[in-house]
Amino acid sequence: MKSFSLFSAATLALAFAPSAFSLPQASPVASSSSSASSSASASASSATGTSANSTVSNVNSTSANVPAAGPYGLDNVRCDPITLTTKINSSNVNFTNVDDNYNNDTYILQEILEYTTDQTNWTANHMSKEKQPFNATYDISGHYCTPIQNAKQNSSLLFAVHGIGFDSKYWDFSYSKNYSFVRHAASHGYSSFIFDRLGCGNSSIPKTGGFSALQAPTEVAIVQNLLGQLRNTTVVGNKKFDKITYIGHSYGSVLGNAVSATTPQLIDNLVLTGFSANSSYNANFAQAGALQKFSEIQGLTNNTQPGIYIGSNNVSAVQLFLDPPNYSQQAALLGFQQSQPLTLGQFFSLSTVSAPAMNYTGPVFVVDGERDFPFCGRQCNAASGNYSNMAAASQQLFPATKNFTSYLQPYTGHAISLSPYSGEAYERVLAQIIATGN
Ligand SMILES: *[C@@H]1O[C@H](CO)[C@@H](O)[C@H](O)[C@H]1NC(C)=O
Ligand SMILES: *[C@@H]1O[C@H](CO)[C@@H](O)[C@H](O)[C@H]1NC(C)=O
Ligand SMILES: *[C@@H]1O[C@H](CO)[C@@H](O)[C@H](O)[C@H]1NC(C)=O
Ligand SMILES: *[C@@H]1O[C@H](CO)[C@@H](O)[C@H](O)[C@H]1NC(C)=O
Ligand SMILES: *[C@@H]1O[C@H](CO)[C@@H](O)[C@H](O)[C@H]1NC(C)=O
Ligand SMILES: *[C@@H]1O[C@H](CO)[C@@H](O)[C@H](O)[C@H]1NC(C)=O
Ligand SMILES: *[C@@H]1O[C@H](CO)[C@@H](O)[C@H](O)[C@H]1NC(C)=O
Ligand SMILES: *[C@@H]1O[C@H](CO)[C@@H](O)[C@H](O)[C@H]1NC(C)=O
Ligand SMILES: *[C@@H]1O[C@H](CO)[C@@H](O)[C@H](O)[C@H]1NC(C)=O
Ligand SMILES: *[C@@H]1O[C@H](CO)[C@@H](O)[C@H](O)[C@H]1NC(C)=O
Ligand SMILES: *[C@@H]1O[C@H](CO)[C@@H](O)[C@H](O)[C@H]1NC(C)=O
Ligand SMILES: *[C@@H]1O[C@H](CO)[C@@H](O)[C@H](O)[C@H]1NC(C)=O
Repeated sequence: MKSFSLFSAATLALAFAPSAFSLPQASPVASSSSSASSSASASASSATGTSANSTVSNVNSTSANVPAAGPYGLDNVRCDPITLTTKINSSNVNFTNVDDNYNNDTYILQEILEYTTDQTNWTANHMSKEKQPFNATYDISGHYCTPIQNAKQNSSLLFAVHGIGFDSKYWDFSYSKNYSFVRHAASHGYSSFIFDRLGCGNSSIPKTGGFSALQAPTEVAIVQNLLGQLRNTTVVGNKKFDKITYIGHSYGSVLGNAVSATTPQLIDNLVLTGFSANSSYNANFAQAGALQKFSEIQGLTNNTQPGIYIGSNNVSAVQLFLDPPNYSQQAALLGFQQSQPLTLGQFFSLSTVSAPAMNYTGPVFVVDGERDFPFCGRQCNAASGNYSNMAAASQQLFPATKNFTSYLQPYTGHAISLSPYSGEAYERVLAQIIATGN
């Protein structure tokens, strides 16, 4: 087995944060934004997104043989909120010579610059080889979204893990019904579990521990705990799930890779979106994001997080997350208003959890926007070694998979849910889930 130097320049999807002045102050978006943010906390109708007018130009159908939705339609869903308590015991990165409770833009910029320009030195100075045992208890806020009618029997639960810059609303993006993954899933009879990662949305928001608590190994342990509860208890959906499809986006995909490498028995089918095994574009991406204290970013629905939380308000985020001009400015604005933060520890520890999944035998499907910036440098279709493109090259991480496939969605950047082509991409995901018997 060759060795992998994955994410050597840090894998990251920044807070989605185009600057507001470049975007229309469209009132239809403002109203759909408030309905979306309230949907996260309440009621059985969280998936009732509005159908705002699209202002997209140049949206061309890329494939005539992909249906717009499954047979039961995009209204066939209800989402119920549920909070799961996770008690974790993880083996964390022992960060040294850091300010664990930083609250200082100069410090944030200095650490990001030092890490992205000389990761080897930063790692040598700030990451001990010894792991730090870490235990904690967090509340994780989620939604269980089920078909109103025609729920498939014995199918996978679709367990969806969002990336950095978002919360679980990424999977039920309310700009229009066609952008919502959970709606596409239910249109085929599938149930989904979506949740807010630690530090995001309505889940626990630790006030301290920007390095020691908020880091990737903590998040891997939370995901493993959630998957264990879904399989072994009846707290969600009143039943035990014995088949689970893990679908990730970006950071959520890296966590999925980590879980498949360490506890492969928890995943039956793995779908990684916004993902590749190539880390060489991440430093540029992080620097262009101009990370700052989240509480200083204007125009967000909620920016009250403590000083360890960071994000971006750089106009270039549109270029980093989308594929101009093939996007809706109103969808981008809604995504920005709902932005969620990250911490330095989450960013710097991500490289430590990625590994080849030697014992994961289930199917793997990698789906990227063809012009994904952080994982492909906007050219996912470039050949990579013996592989025809950069999504396909992810197969190196899954030597034991029984069925590896990949797909590039044209005219689409990193944040697939915000793309006008999200519906097509998600119909292809559902087709893989059906074809592999999940
Ligand atoms: C969509 O745009 C048309 C034409 O500008 C307008 O009449 C209509 O009210 C808009 N619909 C919504 C839902 O904003
Ligand atoms: C969409 O199709 C139109 C007309 O064929 C073409 O001019 C335009 O470049 C296409 N857009 C993209 C993104 O390919
Ligand atoms: C936590 O995990 C460590 C090993 O990583 C183990 O030594 C320890 O006993 C565990 N603690 C608890 C309370 O499970
Ligand atoms: C902010 O961080 C910088 C760099 O670590 C440090 O020099 C400065 O003293 C800090 N400022 C405050 C107010 O803590
Ligand atoms: C590596 O880090 C040390 C300690 O911060 C610093 O003194 C040194 O200049 C750095 N080396 C390089 C090549 O940047
Ligand atoms: C963490 O690293 C520091 C500095 O190297 C060391 O003193 C400490 O013992 C380490 N903690 C653990 C649990 O290994
Ligand atoms: C970890 O768990 C042990 C045993 O349950 C407990 O004594 C200890 O205080 C916990 N540590 C933290 C940091 O929560
Ligand atoms: C679902 O699984 C149960 C138990 O394995 C089996 O008895 C039942 O026939 C299955 N139902 C369908 C629709 O496949
Ligand atoms: C679920 O329960 C089984 C049987 O008790 C046990 O072997 C397994 O470790 C549990 N899995 C998780 C993830 O808790
Ligand atoms: C805003 O975020 C904080 C966490 O930083 C949370 O406690 C609070 O409930 C949120 N407020 C709203 C209105 O969502
Ligand atoms: C894979 O499974 C084998 C056999 O059970 C085990 O020895 C090995 O440690 C596992 N590898 C990993 C990376 O978990
Ligand atoms: C492999 O997965 C693809 C979907 O990505 C599916 O079309 C194909 O039938 C699968 N092959 C096998 C042997 O399961």
